[in-house]
Amino acid sequence: MTEITDLINSAIRKYQKNDFKSALKFAEKILRKDAKNPDALVIKGNVYYQNHQISDSLQCYLKAIEADSHHQSALINIANTYFEMKNYEQAYQFAKRILFEDNSHKTALSILGNSALELEKYEESKSAFLKILQQDSVDAWSYNSLSRIYQKTEDYKRALAYGWKAVELSGGADEQHLNFGYLLYEIEDSRLMDSIQKYANEWITKYAQNPIVKHMGNALLHNEKIERADGEYVREIFDVFADDFEEVLASLDYQAPELIMEEYKQILSEKKDFKQEVLDVGCGTGLCGILLKKINSKIVLYGIDISEKMLEKARQKKCYRKLIKDDLENYFSVSKKQFDTIVAADVLTYFGELKTLFKGFHKILSEKGCVIFTVSANTVNEQDYFLHPSGRFLHHKNYVKKVLKDSGFEIKKMSEKILRKEGGKDVLGYIITAIKKA
Ligand SMILES: C[S@@+](CC[C@H](N)C(=O)[O-])C[C@H]1O[C@@H](n2cnc3c(N)ncnc32)[C@H](O)[C@@H]1O
Repeated sequence: MTEITDLINSAIRKYQKNDFKSALKFAEKILRKDAKNPDALVIKGNVYYQNHQISDSLQCYLKAIEADSHHQSALINIANTYFEMKNYEQAYQFAKRILFEDNSHKTALSILGNSALELEKYEESKSAFLKILQQDSVDAWSYNSLSRIYQKTEDYKRALAYGWKAVELSGGADEQHLNFGYLLYEIEDSRLMDSIQKYANEWITKYAQNPIVKHMGNALLHNEKIERADGEYVREIFDVFADDFEEVLASLDYQAPELIMEEYKQILSEKKDFKQEVLDVGCGTGLCGILLKKINSKIVLYGIDISEKMLEKARQKKCYRKLIKDDLENYFSVSKKQFDTIVAADVLTYFGELKTLFKGFHKILSEKGCVIFTVSANTVNEQDYFLHPSGRFLHHKNYVKKVLKDSGFEIKKMSEKILRKEGGKDVLGYIITAIKKA
């Protein structure tokens, strides 16, 4: 028994030092002696979890509770893993099971509250977070969750007050700024314009240095002086968004990569040589890359993006020769490499003024090279570009045409298309193919 206890302690020590390989070795050694040892199964599950083998980790935790149905770490990890797998019903049931034995368990309350929120059991969710606040009155995430509940139940005044409290208690953490920014944007249409303006003004005054606040605040307050989204802001939102990006975009009927692929097919059909070098700017998770590579495997793809988390996903697609982490304008100013084609799906929406970007495209394209991109249409006013409260820029087609011409491009094709949905409505835009003039 002491030998097993020693081995468990060694496995825990290795795990705590992030030496997952050795922790797994110790756990397996224990399991060879005692196949149902719940502590070893939990450690093994945790190592799988760290390696993103989520369902394998769940199987280990489930085996652990077969051996010891009260094993608290196993129960917590099961609840948490089900939540991660978006199986909110099971996450909710397991959190309840833990709370049955310890009704003030903070992690279980948090999993219960968050799963109940997803399951639209708002009263139960609210009471879980209020219980956490009784134990820890400065827990910013509980305030944030309460704000989400109030938003869902259309009690916007409280949603704003709790969201603001989450920002303040977190000391202005980026995640809370993002949540608060989205809240202000999402309830923009309600009858609370005065309160929203008041909060937005206070937010932008108090946290003036934060790039998320600066960009989202300016968008909400319709500040016309902003020419592009701050790189820090873009990096932060896409780092946070990367895991869910493709699922969310599919639910919005996102069309840009397919539209780009169709245009590129047309371009390629006019060429003899398929060994083209293509730069996918703002490549994100690689949705364009994978489609372009399908057209012809000889195409050599490069990708550039500012968000490491998005690039990580693109890397997994294994279709790019090289992925570069940089801000587009910076890359264009320093790079000496030339490309035959540039594609940009839903990227120019993070730039208002397009001159610098188009000059950059021109610089890195080879002779008669082409650029294929989408822009969202400015259907709000007659200005060249408009910073929408969502933080995305919309462009007037005449402005895009003019800047392309001034930057040394000839427009080959420009079509109006529905790019995706937002808030249930179609987002109108243009897909444009332009050729570098000699
Ligand atoms: C809406 S996503 C589109 C991704 C991909 N093109 C697609 O269609 O799936 C926009 C991408 O542009 C990147 N991006 C925006 N501004 C950028 C900048 N200044 N420099 C580099 N990447 C940028 C973001 O990080 C994000 O991955």
